[in-house]
Amino acid sequence: MTTYRIAFVGTGPAPESPDASGFAMAYRHAMAYDSRNDCKLVACADIVRENGDAFADSFAISDSNVYESYETMLEETEPDIVSVCVPPAIHADIVVGCIQTGIPDAIHCEKPMADTWGDCRRMVTEASEGNVQLTFNHQRRFGGPFRKAKALLNDGAIGELQRVEFSASTLFDYGSHSFDLSNFYVDESDPKWVLAQIDYSEENIFFGAHNENQALVQWEYESGVHGLAVTGTGSGAQLVDCHNRLIGSDGTIEIGVGFGGGEPGPVLRVRRTGSTGWETIDTDEDVHGAKDVTSLEKDQVFLRRAVADVVESLSSDESSDLSGENALRATKLIFGAWESARRRGRIEFPLSFDDNPLVAMVESGALTPEPASD
Ligand SMILES: NC(=O)c1ccc[n+]([C@@H]2O[C@H](COP(=O)([O-])OP(=O)(O)OC[C@H]3O[C@@H](n4cnc5c(N)ncnc54)[C@H](O)[C@@H]3O)[C@@H](O)[C@H]2O)c1
Repeated sequence: MTTYRIAFVGTGPAPESPDASGFAMAYRHAMAYDSRNDCKLVACADIVRENGDAFADSFAISDSNVYESYETMLEETEPDIVSVCVPPAIHADIVVGCIQTGIPDAIHCEKPMADTWGDCRRMVTEASEGNVQLTFNHQRRFGGPFRKAKALLNDGAIGELQRVEFSASTLFDYGSHSFDLSNFYVDESDPKWVLAQIDYSEENIFFGAHNENQALVQWEYESGVHGLAVTGTGSGAQLVDCHNRLIGSDGTIEIGVGFGGGEPGPVLRVRRTGSTGWETIDTDEDVHGAKDVTSLEKDQVFLRRAVADVVESLSSDESSDLSGENALRATKLIFGAWESARRRGRIEFPLSFDDNPLVAMVESGALTPEPASD
């Protein structure tokens, strides 16, 4: 059996109280690799030495394999798979830097892909040219409720899919998962166009990146299925008020009822045309992971499946569900929505810019978010 040597870039400080300024996702990746008998954790790099040291202690990585420079780590330890868990603004430089060493066979990078559309495409192009498997950690694709909903859809429970909807806190940080899930339900049909409006009146920084306060987004896929998304808090987010809703010709599936801040409801339910009401479907997991476990263990069920997909795709040479191409398809909807707000019009794909429209609007003064109140 092949044993894959795993290394990490960006370990995070020990994850005592994860929040939007630091989640230490590397610990979660490491726990998932560590649970497999075909993976060996060999090295880590972090520009903050004590972060790397603490991570190495937690996962029995030798002191001599803790680095501040990821380039030196790659040269000296020659890992097969590298997990990149640094903030989004530096994903692209580090991912491309890893590819250009020619050392790892696979890179598994955290989401959102990058903070400009140009950097998102640059990573995928470089990986393809360098023959490196590049994946992004949209682990919710592997969540029990989402997979059960897809199985119901595929079994014809709601007829032909007509519309996908979601509510989320943001389009970029959380919405990266939500668009990815929407695309999962439409079997990766390409989006044709997107139309959106946003509000950005108070600074909203997640993992170092700007995010709008509220958005309303509509889009259409090549398959003819439509999308509708709302972000923020309050009544706007409650317009959809589900983590995901699938509307078909013969019924509706709802996942994570109340996710927009309304009355919490079932994790998964279906209403079939002709039936008198909603049917709740049992799930062992909720939209974030296992039920009734600690914060650090919660998303392990999803992460273990995501990491399994990464490792098994590498060993089989099959494309991963978390592929760069799938991540680009989700991310183009984020940047396309912000571009629609910038241009005040409908955006037809492909996108014809490289920057981050939200950041550009802040820098030009078109948007003037006040400093956050807390
Ligand atoms: N998949 C999910 O559900 C999920 C959840 C939370 C966060 N995230 C994402 O995970 C990524 C990492 O976020 P986090 O909260 O784990 O970060 P974190 O702040 O906890 O850790 C990041 C680490 O990267 C290190 N670092 C910064 N620049 C570096 C460099 N040039 N070289 C090496 N190390 C460097 C920092 O010192 C820090 O230790 C982000 O993209 C974030 O959006 C994903």
